[in-house]
Amino acid sequence: MPCPCIFFYMTKQFSIPRGTSDILPAMIPFWEEIESKAKDVLKIYGFSEIRTPIYEDINLFKRSMGQTSDVVNKQLLEVMNSPSRVAMDQKGVEQVHSEIYGSQEKTGLVSENTYALRPEGTASIVRSYIENRLDAKEALSKLFYIGPMFRGERPQKGRLRQFHQIGVEAIGVDTASPYLDAEVIGLGVRLLQEFGLSGFKLKINSLGTKEDKENFSKILRDRLKGKLAHLCEDCQSRFDRNVFRVLDCKNSSCQAIVDALEFDDQHLSAESRDYFKQVREAVASLSIACEYSPKLVRGLDYYTHTVFEFVGGGLGTQDALGAGGRYNGLVSDLGGPAADAVGFALGIERILLSIGEKSLSDKKLDSFMVALGETAYKRAFVITDFIRKSNISCDFAHRPGGSMKSQMRLADKRGARYVLILGEDEEKNHSVVIKDMSTGDQENVGWDEVVEVLKRKIK
Ligand code: HAM
Repeated sequence: MPCPCIFFYMTKQFSIPRGTSDILPAMIPFWEEIESKAKDVLKIYGFSEIRTPIYEDINLFKRSMGQTSDVVNKQLLEVMNSPSRVAMDQKGVEQVHSEIYGSQEKTGLVSENTYALRPEGTASIVRSYIENRLDAKEALSKLFYIGPMFRGERPQKGRLRQFHQIGVEAIGVDTASPYLDAEVIGLGVRLLQEFGLSGFKLKINSLGTKEDKENFSKILRDRLKGKLAHLCEDCQSRFDRNVFRVLDCKNSSCQAIVDALEFDDQHLSAESRDYFKQVREAVASLSIACEYSPKLVRGLDYYTHTVFEFVGGGLGTQDALGAGGRYNGLVSDLGGPAADAVGFALGIERILLSIGEKSLSDKKLDSFMVALGETAYKRAFVITDFIRKSNISCDFAHRPGGSMKSQMRLADKRGARYVLILGEDEEKNHSVVIKDMSTGDQENVGWDEVVEVLKRKIK
């Protein structure tokens, strides 16, 4: 007789979307541990949590990350049937706008109101900073977020279409300081160490001001001019539109050309050079080693001055555990005050890949109820509820006729520290047997004592 699961698989109608993953119950303890460790450390560094929608106006991403970045150009996942769009199709753009916003002139909005799933957090946080006038609330807003991001990338190990980031953004008017850059970098290192990672490297570079970046582009174009014919088709168009992207190209012939190029900090003004020097000194004063990487330019357009990446940890080609940098012009470019900003984001899936599941401690059940027979099953149901109300984790098998052996096996699988056995004798005596699963020791206690005894044992 064929296994019944064959029939299940033959009739399966839906599969998970490519590049996404289910985080099954067995993995949840690892995720919880990462998130709770992160929150503890972030609070120690004075960061507060912020939660923004998972989709935003598509133009927010286009304007902030740059029309020529791969993320905007190829990877934005549009949300086509947003309610306002449907409403617009039905009623006409003008009518809907005046219903929502009062008058068209006030908003300046046009019919294009497409949304996209957020590919990263920075743009949304800046939008929220401006919209909620956070600049008026505090001189420096130190914000963090944890949540899913979406990019229509070609999936591979460590590269997903839905992935999760832990991100921080420190935003405020007149707050640019090499020490803030160093504090944020130090926080990134501390988080990775807290998760149990040690074999990663910190790479750092400075793009300088917008003018310095222009200089950098000119130098890069000059160096690449003679080799244009040997660049891939994408890079040939990047040469004019955004030459920095050539440095990130994964095509092997482009990489060989880039590898042969030599750069230093000649694109930087004296002021930018001095700022960068102070950043590196401040990082060194925290006893953090960093590698100066003059070809590190990052894939998003908003960066100015310091850029950095945490790489390695045995990840293979997708080796960035996290990355970030300063983005001084972005808040004002998006219509906000002239605020300076610096931040980074770490990829949770890549952190988990790098740690390996084993080294994070697994969370176990405090207790598991084993009930033998129908009457004991009903009693176990009530006692379990009683134990749970005392904030002690407890579970039991919802199979009234299950044997002692099968229920003990289940308790073991669930990692229960104590098993509470309730059979006919215990039912008669109003008691349960509490068995310590690590030593095998057993004791018989009355129903009215169970919670107190368990509390004492698990503390
Ligand atoms: P990013 O370099 O695009 O920067 O992403 C940061 C991290 O997110 C990466 O280093 C990686 O660990 C993870 N990540 C990115 N894409 C994927 C993917 N497709 N699959 C799995 N993990 C991925 C940003 O997102 C910037 N917003 C960082 C930042 C914050 N800069 C300033 N503030």
